[in-house]
Amino acid sequence: MNKREFLRTAGGAGLGLFLSPRLWAQYEAMPVERLAEEEAFWLAIRGKYRLKPDYINLESGYYSMQAEPVLEAFIKRVREVNYEASYYLRTKQVPDKTAARDKLAAMAGCSPGELCITRNTTESLDTVISGYDWKAGDEAVMSEQDYGHMLAHFRLQARRFGMVNKLVSIPVDPKSDDEVVQVYANAITPRTRLLLVPHMVNITGHILPVRKIADMAHAKGVDVLVDGAHAFAHIDYKIPDLGGDYYGASLHKWLGCPLGTGILYVRREKIPTLWPIFGDWRMTEDADIMKLNHTGTHPVHTDLAITSAIAFHDAIGSKRKEARLRYLQNYWTNKVRGVPNIVLYTPTDPARSCAIANVGIKGMDAMELAKSLLEQDKIFTVGVESASAGVHGVRVTPHVFIQPKELDKLVAALTRYARRTSVGH
Ligand SMILES: Cc1ncc(COP(=O)(O)O)c(C=O)c1O
Repeated sequence: MNKREFLRTAGGAGLGLFLSPRLWAQYEAMPVERLAEEEAFWLAIRGKYRLKPDYINLESGYYSMQAEPVLEAFIKRVREVNYEASYYLRTKQVPDKTAARDKLAAMAGCSPGELCITRNTTESLDTVISGYDWKAGDEAVMSEQDYGHMLAHFRLQARRFGMVNKLVSIPVDPKSDDEVVQVYANAITPRTRLLLVPHMVNITGHILPVRKIADMAHAKGVDVLVDGAHAFAHIDYKIPDLGGDYYGASLHKWLGCPLGTGILYVRREKIPTLWPIFGDWRMTEDADIMKLNHTGTHPVHTDLAITSAIAFHDAIGSKRKEARLRYLQNYWTNKVRGVPNIVLYTPTDPARSCAIANVGIKGMDAMELAKSLLEQDKIFTVGVESASAGVHGVRVTPHVFIQPKELDKLVAALTRYARRTSVGH
């Protein structure tokens, strides 16, 4: 984005400038990897967030707070919708929501007819999982590292229709893409209809080679459902390039939208094959994705804030954001990798992860570690103890507003705990 485009995007959404033209001129042409380390630039962006001083927030993976300009635009929308009430819903709701959807489709790189706004990833993925006309003996493939509630929804289908779920386990630190692809390929049989794959594993931050997995699955006649909860607006990609048939993501994670916003992408040819969960005047066989989107009267102002969140995201730039987030993760993981008693559950290859990483201390329960980090070190993370996924550490998720000096505090705390473990405390 050049300076003029930046001014138009940021100003056009009513966000105002978060960098002075002088500062912007300085950074505009800088390669993204170098800019990732320019603290003055990121400090200006940090200034657009209201951060609680009580702790360092390294848990942006669950919900990423809205930047202040987005929050203000959202509140304005709440007031507008309340002021016009039914008049708004009857006259403006559809065109406004369509405009937000169109912007999202442009960002996702798909046609607007293949995308709808949902409440979250759960709604998006469950719409697909429930939308299949499962027959007894049909099979689906998924991993131990997938989100628990998605696995639960597959289990419901198994109980109800007698379909069969096959679970694979993704290696923590694969040496090649093929190693991962092979794990999935081994689980496919002539009865397999659908494969669920996480774009980014939520507990470890592992980015999977989705395109290669999808190509392999398609060659065997299997559809691919991608869980993009953590990937959208975090790493730079276009949904159709991943090759999946279905994609779901939450916008309250990395796009910084209000809580309760998500997307569902369905490849055009697949739309008529899905049964909607909620009835709509559009019928099952219709190729209109909106048939999957009838959730009744809902908080539309939430959806309207999407436009402002996209403007804020674009003003930073998708590639710049990805580079900064990867820089922050590597900044701290490089300092603790190899330290005795510290275990990383995130791949060593930097291309296989971005902001999220998971770290454990040998002999220390992950929940205990998260508690100690918060109470003793004022660092907020989340503990993950999953025997099935083989992960026993805290998930650490910095956002663009986090500074390296805050991560130094994490490194100091982890090394202190690791040393204590080795002397038997
Ligand atoms: C991989 C993954 N899938 C799905 C979800 C569900 O997201 P939501 O609660 O926004 O529906 C999450 C939530 O963290 C997740 O990490």
